[in-house]
Amino acid sequence: MSILQEIQKRRTFGVIAHPDAGKTTLTEKLLLFGGAIQEAGAVKSNKIKKGATSDFMEIERQRGISVATSVLAFNYKDYKINILDTPGHKDFAEDTFRTLTAVDSVIVVIDVAKGVEEQTEKLVEVCRMRNIPMIVFINKLDREGKDAFDLLDEVEQKLGLSVTPLSFPIGMGYDFKGIYNIWEKNINLFSGDSRRNIEETIAFDNVNDPELDKIIGEKSAENLRSELELVYEVYPPFDREAYLNGTQQPVFFGSALNNFGVRELLDCFVEIAPSPRSKASDKRVVNPDENTFSGFVFKIHANMDPNHRNRLAFVKIVSGTFERNKPYLHVRHGKKLKFSSPNAFFAEKKEVVDISYAGDIVGLHDTGNFKIGDTLTEGEVLQFKGIPSFSPEHFRYINNADPLKSKQLEKGIDQLMDEGVAQLFKLDFNGRKVIGTVGALQYEVIQYRLEHEYGAKCSYETFPIHKACWVEEPENPKDAEFQDFLRVKQKYMARDKQGQRVFLADSAFSIEMVKQKYPNVKLHFTSEFE
Ligand code: G4P
Repeated sequence: MSILQEIQKRRTFGVIAHPDAGKTTLTEKLLLFGGAIQEAGAVKSNKIKKGATSDFMEIERQRGISVATSVLAFNYKDYKINILDTPGHKDFAEDTFRTLTAVDSVIVVIDVAKGVEEQTEKLVEVCRMRNIPMIVFINKLDREGKDAFDLLDEVEQKLGLSVTPLSFPIGMGYDFKGIYNIWEKNINLFSGDSRRNIEETIAFDNVNDPELDKIIGEKSAENLRSELELVYEVYPPFDREAYLNGTQQPVFFGSALNNFGVRELLDCFVEIAPSPRSKASDKRVVNPDENTFSGFVFKIHANMDPNHRNRLAFVKIVSGTFERNKPYLHVRHGKKLKFSSPNAFFAEKKEVVDISYAGDIVGLHDTGNFKIGDTLTEGEVLQFKGIPSFSPEHFRYINNADPLKSKQLEKGIDQLMDEGVAQLFKLDFNGRKVIGTVGALQYEVIQYRLEHEYGAKCSYETFPIHKACWVEEPENPKDAEFQDFLRVKQKYMARDKQGQRVFLADSAFSIEMVKQKYPNVKLHFTSEFE
């Protein structure tokens, strides 16, 4: 098979959802179809219930599990599918945002009863901003939920999407009789008494077949016919171009738990979802079918074993092929590195591979060379874009609680920040270190990991900051307005880990005041700007 064919058969995507919508269940069913796992229950959820730190610590201790579920790859028909794990818990939102830089499309899972929830809104917004193609899967149709048309409206309103259903439910909850597959133009009947088994499906080519009345009842059949008429009237036909450029989102209905509607979703997905897409860098746009390799680190996983401070850096291959033992340029360090045992992922296992293709993820063993966003190439000096840091939501001073271990603390903080666990800011006027996180949970995680992996102790002190604003440097650094801003706000000026200037604003009001008083000072809410 040629390299181009290898690349074109790849589908690298993420499943995003509010916790409990059914992401893990759906992923598992997809793997079952691929024959990658034999039984349900094989995919471990690394879900954190209600923010319990103990749960998180337990998960961290069983790090093997979460490494394994970071990438789940399997073959289906002629396709190679890579599913990237995206934590649904809001405290790990930043991890999910970064993973979204490595996917070529997403499937959004929505609970039919709960509709669009908070995390779904945030994650979809990020995908929308990046024009990532999205398919919506409305789950739990075996339960009582919202009316299908109301739900489609809600998805459009709350998520700002333009949907078109590619399947449509027949009844719901107790009366759930099956699904009309608009994409394949047939009907699959849900005949579950046990409701827990993979159901047999009966295919109907024509919705007007009188046989249908006999099976689902005259009333349901009539209902379905009129609902479908409305669907065709209200929603535009599926337009693949529009889906690929992020302006139309097809919708499927089903029940992941009952494995109902999942095959239909998967069959359509492999057909319409994009193969690896091009990616912008600071120099040029890089295409997947280029001959030379390039890729970037989107995730770093630490091994919790204190005796092996070994990390796994996850690299998305953007172009060409990645080969074992071939030297690649670590662009930030300007040096060549070879990898003797790159890991590829298959189902929930990882194994050493000789060659991987654009679209694939390789896991590289790392002793501290990498940080999130690092680019690897065959020699070209370029840096991939679109892996920004967002402003944290919580800020605390970090103090050394064991003066004899200050070196260990430095190193620990440094490496945890490279992994993207949190962000570090250093105040200009007194050099104090401030840790910014998306969720309060991370502070305990950092404390725990510093102690167990680095033998260092820390304590925190509150620092009531509202938002981190990255400050654009003016063309003339001596600019009077800029200098005045720096002087007046000197207690709130800091540097991030890359040395970029950051204004730590203590309130929304203070940001407004800066905007009014210093109209030429440019503030940004992410670390990456033109
Ligand atoms: P998540 O990864 O998005 O957080 O969700 P997960 O798949 O863990 O599913 C959350 C809960 O919803 C699970 O129940 C799961 O069994 C259930 N679920 C998923 N899909 C369906 C469906 O199609 N119909 C119904 N009725 N339920 C569904 P749980 O009780 O929290 O966990 P468990 O004890 O069953 O594992």
